[in-house]
Amino acid sequence: MSTDCRPRGLFITFEGIDGAGKSTHLATLAELLRSQGREVQVTREPGGTALAEKLRACLLHDPMDALTEVLLVFAARRDHLLRVIEPALAAGRVVLCDRFTDATFAYQGHGRGFDRDVLQTLERWVQEQADGQLRQPDLTLWFDVSPEQAAQRLSGVRMPDRFEAEPQAFFERVRAGYAARAAAAPTRIVRLDATQPVESVWTQVLAICRQRGIVA
Ligand code: TMP
Repeated sequence: MSTDCRPRGLFITFEGIDGAGKSTHLATLAELLRSQGREVQVTREPGGTALAEKLRACLLHDPMDALTEVLLVFAARRDHLLRVIEPALAAGRVVLCDRFTDATFAYQGHGRGFDRDVLQTLERWVQEQADGQLRQPDLTLWFDVSPEQAAQRLSGVRMPDRFEAEPQAFFERVRAGYAARAAAAPTRIVRLDATQPVESVWTQVLAICRQRGIVA
């Protein structure tokens, strides 16, 4: 019989188009979980390690073709998984990650029109675990907002990066990409109506987390 009474690690990801407001809720959920005694690892993609943060800077600011972009995204993810996500899950922490592979399928797959079979192959290379299973989030919160509303929220906040500078049609495709991912994994990916005011979006986050036994 196992004598290990650490809580099971949990992997929760936050997704949505730029300007959806997900990062605010990630921080609030981290605070709530900590107040309830959970150890929480807050992290993000691309990024989360020294190497992956360097790759993030390239991805957000350096011109490159779609294949280079995809390879950098997965290189960053590999380093992040090995150094941060897997160790945190093994230690029983709750990992709250701002974006993960759903973003790759939405942005590179749907947004850029990159070959989805290739994305699936890279996903397997990068996320396959010792038992042959793919590492996937236990829960993905998809903050769904229209590209018009997201653009309004972002306008004038700072200089747009390479993704934020994309036209509205790009974000329409990315949004459709998230919708397709959610339809294919309806238990894992939960859509939130992120057009609502912050408090009401937080109420939705809380309801899902309570339903799943993640918070008391
Ligand atoms: P952030 O501003 O939400 O941190 O995300 C950085 C940008 O990176 C965002 O515009 C989406 C983009 N991105 C991809 O294109 N593919 C990916 O796989 C990830 C994780 C992010």
